[in-house]
Amino acid sequence: MRTRAEPYYDPYDADIDTDPYPVWRRLRDEAPLYYNEQHNFFALSRFADVHAASLDWQSYSSARGTVLEYIDASASLADADPSFGMMIFMDPPRHDELRRLVNRAFTPRRVAALDGRVRELCGEFLEPQRGGAGFDFVEDFAAKIPTMVIGALLGVPKEDQDQLRQWGDVMMRLETGTVSAEKMAAIERFGSYMEAMVEDRRRRPRDDMISDLLSAEITRDDGSSRKLDHREVMAFFTLLEIAGSETTARLLGWASVLLARHPEQRAQLVESRALVPNAVEELLRYEPPSPIQARLTTRAVEWHGQVVPAHSKVALLTGSAGRDEREYAEPDRFDVERALDRHVTFGYGVHYCLGANLARLEAAVVIEETLDRFPEWHVDEREVELVRTSTVRGPSHVPIRL
Ligand code: HEM
Repeated sequence: MRTRAEPYYDPYDADIDTDPYPVWRRLRDEAPLYYNEQHNFFALSRFADVHAASLDWQSYSSARGTVLEYIDASASLADADPSFGMMIFMDPPRHDELRRLVNRAFTPRRVAALDGRVRELCGEFLEPQRGGAGFDFVEDFAAKIPTMVIGALLGVPKEDQDQLRQWGDVMMRLETGTVSAEKMAAIERFGSYMEAMVEDRRRRPRDDMISDLLSAEITRDDGSSRKLDHREVMAFFTLLEIAGSETTARLLGWASVLLARHPEQRAQLVESRALVPNAVEELLRYEPPSPIQARLTTRAVEWHGQVVPAHSKVALLTGSAGRDEREYAEPDRFDVERALDRHVTFGYGVHYCLGANLARLEAAVVIEETLDRFPEWHVDEREVELVRTSTVRGPSHVPIRL
């Protein structure tokens, strides 16, 4: 039985999720190794602990999944593979083979070349809003950018990019019980679309990432090589579409809320664009779009004098780590000029976010292009709505007034 005095953290409690920071502070101070009996998971909340556990993939496995409620702690690591062929749900060496390959296709050249496409998209969405009273920053603008950008990178034609986002949104929806007909239909359509595109690139390779993935060779640890099979290419397609869209959309949403909450800091950015990249890092630290990464322990581990048995679910609270006063001075103060050495918002270690630089580029360009047209806007935070998925936290609706 828990008493009122003990801190209680439940990631599925909508009230807690609206503002989890006070509870996370109590966890860091009073229960740095926290155990939730109801949902049967442990949680680490201090920066140093999250950082160390993220690096230790041998003890904290991703191979049973990384979404807390989907990890089946009773399954053995040797049971059927729940990764769907996605490297985010694998441990080395399997993970590393795929990661090495996609690192080559996901080149800095390709990312940098997207700057122009992001600016063009911002223009298309923001220009029509000039002279208007306001718009929904996320729904009408920011949520559309990341899928269109990742689509451009993969080679999805312009006219289909928003359609993929719509299917992706339905696929990500948290549903209880049986899968709805709408969700099944979205999964099927998304799947057939990908099949057709991969087939087309197999016959006629182009200068895009799907073609690169099809031609690339995986180097195994023993030095031999092989190509990706069809299932693996499809898995990359899905992983990149989904991992690249939701999280970045939430980051952009937080930017619109926090810059409206701190007009003096927004004015600093209007004055000096050189500050924008640092503002993006501060946004990532202050409101991480993906605040929980879950793992399953492969052996017993000890934290703060207590043992976590093998086969336990452990939540690495990256969202709490960003507000740890042991790592950051005055962590609850948002400051676009903060000198930031590091944060764990993109994870750490072998699974460090593949799209980190792309997300940074998108956020910087969106902020710049917004400030160019609208140096001031107002948000009534009572009107802001947060998304409810189990892994992503951030605004789905931000009505702004100009
Ligand atoms: C603000 C935006 C983003 C945030 C906060 C974010 C966050 C994260 C985090 C925390 C992880 C580590 C997961 C773990 O340790 O289990 C991760 C991994 C990953 N992210 Fe991102 N991400 C963002 C944008 C993107 C974008 C734009 C892409 C698309 C290309 C992307 C693709 C991936 C992939 C493929 C992985 C798996 C890497 C691996 O397993 O080696 N992410 N991301």
